[in-house]
Amino acid sequence: MATSSQVDLTGTTYCVVSGASQGIGRAIAVEVAKLLGPKSLMLLLARNKIELAKTAELCASPNVEVRYESVDLSKSSNSEMYGLLRKSLEGRDVKGFVTSLIFHNVGSLGNLAVETWKMDDVDELRDYYDLNVFKVISLNTQFLKIFEEIDDRVVIVNITSLCAIKPMGGMAYYCSGKAAREMYFKVLAAEKAHIKVLNYSPGPVETAMIDFVLTEAVNDNLKDVFTSFKRQGTLLKPEMTAQKCVKVLQAGLFTPGEHVDYFDDE
Ligand SMILES: NC(=O)c1ccc[n+]([C@@H]2O[C@H](COP(=O)([O-])OP(=O)(O)OC[C@H]3O[C@@H](n4cnc5c(N)ncnc54)[C@H](OP(=O)(O)O)[C@@H]3O)[C@@H](O)[C@H]2O)c1
Repeated sequence: MATSSQVDLTGTTYCVVSGASQGIGRAIAVEVAKLLGPKSLMLLLARNKIELAKTAELCASPNVEVRYESVDLSKSSNSEMYGLLRKSLEGRDVKGFVTSLIFHNVGSLGNLAVETWKMDDVDELRDYYDLNVFKVISLNTQFLKIFEEIDDRVVIVNITSLCAIKPMGGMAYYCSGKAAREMYFKVLAAEKAHIKVLNYSPGPVETAMIDFVLTEAVNDNLKDVFTSFKRQGTLLKPEMTAQKCVKVLQAGLFTPGEHVDYFDDE
């Protein structure tokens, strides 16, 4: 493993977390906030403003100023995204940040009630890809524009899934979206060797997403897998996987664009 990927969070850091109103995104924001150096700044993004405010409260620290914006990332234009990032940086010189970090955590499961061989609703697929792939790419591009002159300080974490590399029956929207999203970040990492890019797969985590599978899935095997995770108590807590993600970053336990799973060294 390369150690040149080590991420130092103890300096003045700018950190954006998408999907920060609950679940894994909230846990990542909280774990990262504990580590950041003086004059750090966080921007939390999601739609639910009340829950974002709760996450911001949980992140409170003398070292960190936490800002949040309610935004539907599936609908946000490039200029709106750029504006959100710029607004969060108001009064700050981007060159003052030792590390500029973004967690692309936002995600949804897609339609679990349609069998793969019956999929033909292109508008629905397009909506799914908008949030989970296209708008992730646009947000990442706006972030890179802002830090273009100092992109050697940029760290990008894509929250991916085992489903990006292993097919899971009943989850064609999710698996294909995660695969496309992960490959975009791999290509970026291949082009920009000086930017640290990690594809982190959090393992099965007890969040609203799991409940969605249990209520919506029509694929029996998929339902069985998640029901047994729940029954056996094998689901991870969001803070467990968030801590592991931070550990991987700090220890530099990844090569450019590498897919690292929670269980890789467990
Ligand atoms: N849970 C697991 O077992 C698991 C396993 C592997 C990978 N993952 C990945 O981990 C990430 C987080 O998942 P999670 O389990 O924490 O899911 P979650 O609890 O459903 O959280 C999803 C987050 O995304 C936000 N979001 C959804 N649609 C949005 C939109 N249109 N605009 C802005 N924000 C939006 C939600 O906030 P609002 O509703 O407030 O907008 C929420 O904060 C996802 O990328 C997921 O694929 C999860």
